Amino acid sequence: MAADKSLVAVTCTAPINIAVIKYWGKRDEELILPINSSLSVTLHQDQLKTTTTAVISKDFTEDQIWLNGRKEDVGQPRIQACLREIRRLARKRRSTDDKDPLPLSLSYKVHVASVNNFPTAAGLASSAAGYACLAYALAQVYGVEHDLSEVARRGSGSACRSLYGGFVEWQMGEQADGKDSIARQVASELHWPELRALILVVSAEKKPTSSTVGMQTSVETSPLLRFRAEAVVPARIAEMTRYIKERDFQGFGQLTMKDSNQFHATCLDTFPPISYLNDVSRRIIHLVHCFNTHHGQTKVAYTFDAGPNAVIFTLDDTVAEFVAAVRHSFPPESNGDKFLKGLPVRPALLSDEVKAALDMDPTPGVIKYIIATQVGPGPQILDDPQAHLLGPDGLPKPAA
Ligand code: DP6
Repeated sequence: MAADKSLVAVTCTAPINIAVIKYWGKRDEELILPINSSLSVTLHQDQLKTTTTAVISKDFTEDQIWLNGRKEDVGQPRIQACLREIRRLARKRRSTDDKDPLPLSLSYKVHVASVNNFPTAAGLASSAAGYACLAYALAQVYGVEHDLSEVARRGSGSACRSLYGGFVEWQMGEQADGKDSIARQVASELHWPELRALILVVSAEKKPTSSTVGMQTSVETSPLLRFRAEAVVPARIAEMTRYIKERDFQGFGQLTMKDSNQFHATCLDTFPPISYLNDVSRRIIHLVHCFNTHHGQTKVAYTFDAGPNAVIFTLDDTVAEFVAAVRHSFPPESNGDKFLKGLPVRPALLSDEVKAALDMDPTPGVIKYIIATQVGPGPQILDDPQAHLLGPDGLPKPAA
């Protein structure tokens, strides 16, 4: 933080998360309260992260925000909701804490700049990392120490789960004001070191229905969604928590796939129906089941969000063979050397038995690339002032 108290600058990073028990449907659109609890795995920021700088100054005349280098409308309702919430929490703290180190800062306007280290075109959900990072950075500059679930959640529901590392439950809560709808860590990022995630980025031509709109239509029209929220998810949250605590990959993997499938079934049960999966997604599903059947156990598991990209969970001893299976079934078309990003994966040869077991003709070029990553920590503060995305004048630094 800058020493001059008329200007405070903080830069933070935050991770993306992948739900293994999905959030789909709100009971309150304004407060972003879900119809069921959800559970996710936080992915490592070495591969995927959002970086956000927040600067407050008495000299700023208005709030401003830049996303990936472009000025955006700070008046967007979800950004406004986050700003309002953080200032409310800051005021609340000031009124109960006499030892206020920054008495004036509450009235200061804020400038925010945020960038992702992964291409938006990859179709990876960036809103969770983005709003978690925004909440975290704002909390630092305004001196808020309160639980930030409420702030991040008002940006995007799934964002509250990106406030923690490891394995995280977003408890749906019961109260109408949402005070008990909060994210809690189930196990830390150190709990299951062998767990790996592979993101298979699938070429997709058209933009799918946004999560926000899709889940609204599902809540209005899908009886299966209601059944899922009431009769299926509560037991699944307990079961998944147990599998994680016991590091039981068989249980974890199977339930992850079942819950992804049920979420996509509720999308099909929505009227008019929504399909996020495409032919490539379905081929990946088939590949995973053939691979597991060949091995006689659940060695890999898929999960899909509101788009065709797959996230594969597996253990470190299976990564090389499964990546070889993906390369065999979906040969890279042009960028063979850039097909694999992230954690190093040693090359592996696929046995003829595995090739035969995969039971499909190779389809070249339909998977753009793979990002290999693992479970990671929650938001971080960057101490290096060089990391700030905004200069001392509060404007974006020219890109290096
Ligand atoms: C399919 O959090 O993006 O990824 O709350 O409207 O911003 P809003 O929706 P969002 O929905 C995420 C849905 C999901 C499942 C999940 O992450 O749990």
